[in-house]
Amino acid sequence: LRVAVLVSGSGSNLQVLIDAMQAGALPIEIVGVISNRDDAYAITRANAASIPVAVLSHVASGKRMGIKTFERHASEQLQAWQPDLIVLAGFMRVLSASFINNSPAPMINLHPSLLPAYKGLDTHKRVIQAGEYHHGCSIHVVTAELDAGAVLTQAVLSLDQKDTAENLQKRVQKLEHQLLPWTVLLLAKGVLSLNHGESNSQASTF
Ligand code: GRF
Repeated sequence: LRVAVLVSGSGSNLQVLIDAMQAGALPIEIVGVISNRDDAYAITRANAASIPVAVLSHVASGKRMGIKTFERHASEQLQAWQPDLIVLAGFMRVLSASFINNSPAPMINLHPSLLPAYKGLDTHKRVIQAGEYHHGCSIHVVTAELDAGAVLTQAVLSLDQKDTAENLQKRVQKLEHQLLPWTVLLLAKGVLSLNHGESNSQASTF
């Protein structure tokens, strides 16, 4: 399975995919990484694994790349890499409907909550404030509506009285590092399948 990964930050989720791939535990090839920030540590991780990286920074030295320009470059890059699957792993930019609908491959996103609860930002803080008993992370299909596409997999934890937003983030991230490679494995093995839009120009199913 040819996989492209979109990142904005530390890239610890990218790293678990790289490690699993290199260990022969995941039948994938990471064909490229796109970062929308030039200071993302994920870039260093991709470079260390000799994975092609496109840095399409929208906060580059004072000059902001608009979303349209970003998406045009990202589209060209993805067309060139020909991925079967696009993984948004800590990618913090909202993509337009047209980019998503014209994507050359299905896109999945990792979100730090038990969707459909707690879409959007600051999920850990909001979960604590609401006094929830459970929290976790979800991997869902990316659709034009934010964090609203079909949920594929979830991992759950029980909240502890002592949990703070900071340590919850760490606890959830540990789950993410398990959930992401498992989900990609299920997709690669065809246990989970994604129907990539009939309306897309290059329809593909795997
Ligand atoms: C993850 O915790 C994800 O849920 C959130 O951003 C974080 C990305 O972490 N949206 P990393 O860049 O994979 O280390």
